[in-house]
Amino acid sequence: MKWIEAASYEEMSIIAANIFTAQLKQNPTSVFGMATGGTPEGFYKELVSSYQAGEISFAEAKSFNLDEYIGIAPENKVSYHYYMDENLFNHIDMKRENIHVPTGDSTDLQASAVQYDEAIEGAGGIDIQLLGIGVNGHIGFNEPGSSFSAGTNIVELTESTREANQIYFDKLEDVPSHAITMGISTILQSKKIVLLISGASKQEAMDRLRSGEITEDFPASALHQHNDVTVIYTGVK
Ligand code: PGA
Repeated sequence: MKWIEAASYEEMSIIAANIFTAQLKQNPTSVFGMATGGTPEGFYKELVSSYQAGEISFAEAKSFNLDEYIGIAPENKVSYHYYMDENLFNHIDMKRENIHVPTGDSTDLQASAVQYDEAIEGAGGIDIQLLGIGVNGHIGFNEPGSSFSAGTNIVELTESTREANQIYFDKLEDVPSHAITMGISTILQSKKIVLLISGASKQEAMDRLRSGEITEDFPASALHQHNDVTVIYTGVK
């Protein structure tokens, strides 16, 4: 695991964006794994600026997002479909058919989960997966106790995750109880992984990740089993 300390949130975003743009320049047909949340917003701004400056094109690239809430329609402003359109896809030239976000409102969620992993495999696998980390160490929505061998699946969100995400909803009761997420096994199959950690609320998770202990109680610790993980962090020690 490679650790890069960034001097600021902006620097963290730029370092991460540079890794993605270098990959895209080297291989225009790259497959990217995308994440949502507060942490990657600056990263997406950097990608959009590079696109608008004519430095990169996503015309032949593909993307797969980590997760989506169950029971939230794509057009709902709290959905991760909406987040991705607002932060990235509405501003770049990636073709709609090459954009994949798990479906949280399908009638057969189990089938959607299986099909999601098949689609990733069909695209040749993910070249670089972006990740954030939850205060409880989740990656995607793989909460503590998740099996490291799971593919994309339906999960129940913990109270700490629902509380952390409440800021995007009117009240706690509105935060969905379940989500569809790439499984830890799906994530570990990515060729390269970039994990962003920003802010003091993530210190405990950072310390636990740094300890090197591997346990399903701490989902991010699965990343120690991957041979190409870069952690870019700021505002944590
Ligand atoms: P955040 O979420 O970037 O909003 O802190 C990260 C996560 O929960 O994975």
